[in-house]
Amino acid sequence: MAVRPLANYDNPVLHEKAKRVSRFDGSLQKLIDDMVDTMHAEHGVGLAAPQVGVSLRLCVVELPEDHEDGLAGQLIVLANPEIVKASEPYEPEEGCLSVPGYMAQVRRFRHVTAKGRDRHGKEVRYKGSDLLAQAFQHEIDHLNGVLFVDRLESRDQLRPVRREGATETEGAAAAGAGDSSHPSRGYRG
Ligand code: CO
Repeated sequence: MAVRPLANYDNPVLHEKAKRVSRFDGSLQKLIDDMVDTMHAEHGVGLAAPQVGVSLRLCVVELPEDHEDGLAGQLIVLANPEIVKASEPYEPEEGCLSVPGYMAQVRRFRHVTAKGRDRHGKEVRYKGSDLLAQAFQHEIDHLNGVLFVDRLESRDQLRPVRREGATETEGAAAAGAGDSSHPSRGYRG
């Protein structure tokens, strides 16, 4: 297990459509373990393989333990994920580990059903709301070469947030400052 370096905004791997996972072999297991380590090290809620430079349709998601959701603290691995149902548009707060230092409100669906395969190739299906639904949408976007900034009408919608040396809580305070309708720390993945 190892933390891998993150691909940054300029890296072409983040802007291309990733390839389907076809082999659930040892190297895939190693990649998944490394992605989980990297997600934890970066304090992300989710991470997609292109973010560690691997163009594969694979993502990991783990809601914070203290999150109010039945799946909180449980690791979700999705290979070849697809959204099969989505409802209730809204605009939650969102940021990306590959675009550090910025957040924005992004148009998403509040309720999403995603299906895919787990780390062993078994078919799985998850129903998620709020942060979990946002995770599925953000990470599947990554697999299609789409970043949250691509979903904004204007780059002016990006808000700088303090990242260097800031704790999660400080970052959240900066992200939510002056906007009491979005007090949560938002999604990062
Ligand atoms: Co991201």
